[in-house]
Amino acid sequence: MDSLKHISCGIRGLDSILGGMILPSTILVAGTAGVGKTIMSLQMLSNASKKGEKVLYIPITTESPNKLKMYNSTLEFFDQQVQIHPINRQLAEKDPLTTLIEIGNVIESAKPQRLVIDPVTPLGFGFVEQERRRFFYTLDSMLQERNMLTFLIGELQKEHLHNSVIGHLSDGIIYLTRQDKESKADHRLEFIKMRGIDPKKRSGIVSQKYPYEISSSGFIVYPRLESPWNTELDDTKIDIGIPGLDSMFEGGLLRYNNLLVAGAPGTGKKIFGLQFILQGLGNGDPGMVITFENSPHQMLQDSKRMGWELKSYIDTGLLHFMCNNPQEVNPAEHAAKVRETIEEKGIKRVFFDGTNQLELSMHNSLELRGYIHSMTNYLKSHNITALFSTDIAPSEYQGHQDVDVASIMDSVLILHCSRARDRRYMCITKSRSTKHKRAVKEYAITDTGIRLRTDTLI
Ligand SMILES: Nc1ncnc2c1ncn2[C@@H]1O[C@H](COP(=O)(O)OP(=O)(O)OP(=O)(O)O)[C@@H](O)[C@H]1O
Ligand SMILES: [Mg+2]
Repeated sequence: MDSLKHISCGIRGLDSILGGMILPSTILVAGTAGVGKTIMSLQMLSNASKKGEKVLYIPITTESPNKLKMYNSTLEFFDQQVQIHPINRQLAEKDPLTTLIEIGNVIESAKPQRLVIDPVTPLGFGFVEQERRRFFYTLDSMLQERNMLTFLIGELQKEHLHNSVIGHLSDGIIYLTRQDKESKADHRLEFIKMRGIDPKKRSGIVSQKYPYEISSSGFIVYPRLESPWNTELDDTKIDIGIPGLDSMFEGGLLRYNNLLVAGAPGTGKKIFGLQFILQGLGNGDPGMVITFENSPHQMLQDSKRMGWELKSYIDTGLLHFMCNNPQEVNPAEHAAKVRETIEEKGIKRVFFDGTNQLELSMHNSLELRGYIHSMTNYLKSHNITALFSTDIAPSEYQGHQDVDVASIMDSVLILHCSRARDRRYMCITKSRSTKHKRAVKEYAITDTGIRLRTDTLI
């Protein structure tokens, strides 16, 4: 048997989830009003058209061709080569057979490689069920004669998909929803049915609801962070970069480990993290700092005072900053961007600064744990050493049980500042894959960074 031919559908994120769509195939894209069905399908057509494919868009609409053109020109991604053949919606509802002939004729003359009928559901509106079925069988066999990727847009709610004749005839059903959570719209895409997916990935794909976003630059779906477990974990030890600390971890962290550094504000977590990154940069390891500050400016200034010229590493492309306002972060988008940088730049060390700030962008602490969990798994599976910092109240320093994400991390280190004695202490409260010393060590923040004092206190 011939193997299925997969082609790129041209929608960011969707291809990496599915590994492309099969050709020929007909996909029903369904959802209620305003969820982005039209934008998604125009994105699919425009990207293919930019690559030189012939594409045809058939809006079933009451809008005038001029108004349609005006609307399309507000979409940055829209390609003017997309051929548009509007059909009057009232006519389509009243006289579906004439509409069917019109669709057949325009396909025949345009010979498109991709087609969108938006929406298809009003066709045959006035028919009784049996007639309507027959009508869609005819449409389906007409489409099957061509080697096309077709998106049929359906104005349908999820509960009506299961007995929809168009759904039965389609090779795939994509369902889009929008929910308003607090002040934000939450868009989700799910695959109700999809032929031609790699069987190993199928159950993971069809059980997910993928976040997506609509903007004038297009329609983007955010895949989950994938953690391929067939990669070999690199258990060489790496130097954390804090003089004296490696001996507490019996020689340093394993390359695939992650470490949570928790402490009250002012305990030196940022310096700790930057020093960790700097140690890697010195060995030629590309590093990434993820922060919820407006810009890297403050961090670069502070590090300058330690004599660290981080700017030069940014200029040479070895160091990358990702700065976001935590209130504007979309967790799925954030994760996708982290992944893009990591894979593009071959990042080896990550400093994830102010993990707790992400709470501002999440609906609950479970979501934060879920995010950190998939992030740590992803980083581990890529043999990236990661340091996460989080703020804790000064009274919590004795144990890590109060730090929500501590249980996810391989290792946890607490920084504490004793105001009474004007001294700083650190201790490792957990280390999964390396033995660690239980001692509380005194540390100092000096002109050249953090270093441990040699005297053991406990
Ligand atoms: N430039 C843009 N930036 C951000 N969002 C946009 C932009 N243009 C449109 N939208 C959003 O996209 C949604 C409309 O998308 P679209 O027209 O594709 O929906 P639809 O599912 O086709 O709706 P309908 O069933 O009414 O045709 C709206 O929620 C709108 O707010
Ligand atoms: Mg629409």
